[in-house]
Amino acid sequence: MPTVPVVERSDRFRGLFPYLDERVYLDTAAAGLCWKGHGEAVARFYDDVKNRGYDARPEWWALLNRVRSRVAKWLGVKAEDVTFVMNTTDGLNLASHSIDFRKGDRIVLADDEFPSVALIWAAAERAGAELVRVKIPTEVERQSALLEAVDGRTRVLAVSQTHSSTGTTVDLDALARHCHAQGALLMVDGIQALGAVSTRLDQVDIYISSFFKWMLSGFGFGVLVTSPRARQAMTPAWRGYANMDDPTQLQYAHVNIPALYGLDATLDLFEEIGWDAVYAQVRLLGDALVAASDRHGLDLITPRNRRAGIFVFRAPDGEAARLTLAKRNISVSARGEGLRVSPHFYNTTQEVERCAAEMAEVLAA
Ligand SMILES: Cc1ncc(COP(=O)(O)O)c(C=O)c1O
Repeated sequence: MPTVPVVERSDRFRGLFPYLDERVYLDTAAAGLCWKGHGEAVARFYDDVKNRGYDARPEWWALLNRVRSRVAKWLGVKAEDVTFVMNTTDGLNLASHSIDFRKGDRIVLADDEFPSVALIWAAAERAGAELVRVKIPTEVERQSALLEAVDGRTRVLAVSQTHSSTGTTVDLDALARHCHAQGALLMVDGIQALGAVSTRLDQVDIYISSFFKWMLSGFGFGVLVTSPRARQAMTPAWRGYANMDDPTQLQYAHVNIPALYGLDATLDLFEEIGWDAVYAQVRLLGDALVAASDRHGLDLITPRNRRAGIFVFRAPDGEAARLTLAKRNISVSARGEGLRVSPHFYNTTQEVERCAAEMAEVLAA
């Protein structure tokens, strides 16, 4: 494990994110910063279309297959398990509408889930499924409360890997073991974790994430990963020319090819830095933020041993505090019961320490 954050060891990586020269940007959970090479990679697609139109398509399909295999290998699944979607909400809807629900099925989810996880079950309910909304007593009990609610009647447990307004991060393998013992599918919204913490999906049934947050790759593109077991329980709800000949295929139309160019380049960047170094840096910045916030007496809502890159500190008026910090050149979000600070590998320990000090000052005022 590196003891010095990777961007502090190398000006080159830090220099790829020019906004960091003018701003303490600690809001990756809202949107990750794009890096210099990303836009250039996306522009190459538009140059292709300008110069060759649809005649360039063999290269696009080759890229599609390559990136699909690359994503699959990284996440520990097979290429055929990977479907590209427009965004997390698109993938969640495609999955929820494709599962063959039966009368009496139960869908378990936390009562404070992100709207895109909570609002996608109307068709399931019309088919006779029932929603079980679990009250989460405390953040450290989030995972155990969900596990207790999953029983033999449960068809799906739907959960955010990292909760967007508390930062609590669940253990996917532990959830999968319990779901599978009960005959249920584990369905995960991974957008607040993918790229921040090591994620293997070989035990997960359905996993969805966009690439614009911790994956730094802009809007309009995401991934839906389904296990063979999940696909057996699904009939693809969206149909089109791309799954005309194969009604079991979830991919139903063109994918966002320009975004694919960008993602391919970003995967190159992450691999050059090293995934372990990226995850270690997120961890190290989190440790530095927590230590500094303890010194300043801030009240951390996120459990210390169940977190990824999101840290939420209690604040009576989070939006007012956010605005004051923004005027002081620090970008964070107001979420849930406080302020959400979300450093990625491009940040430094000095930045998170400054943020903790200024949060304490602002909240004491
Ligand atoms: C947990 C969670 N899910 C989904 C989304 C929305 O993602 P998308 O716009 O890709 O649907 C967000 C944030 O934007 C989020 O925090």
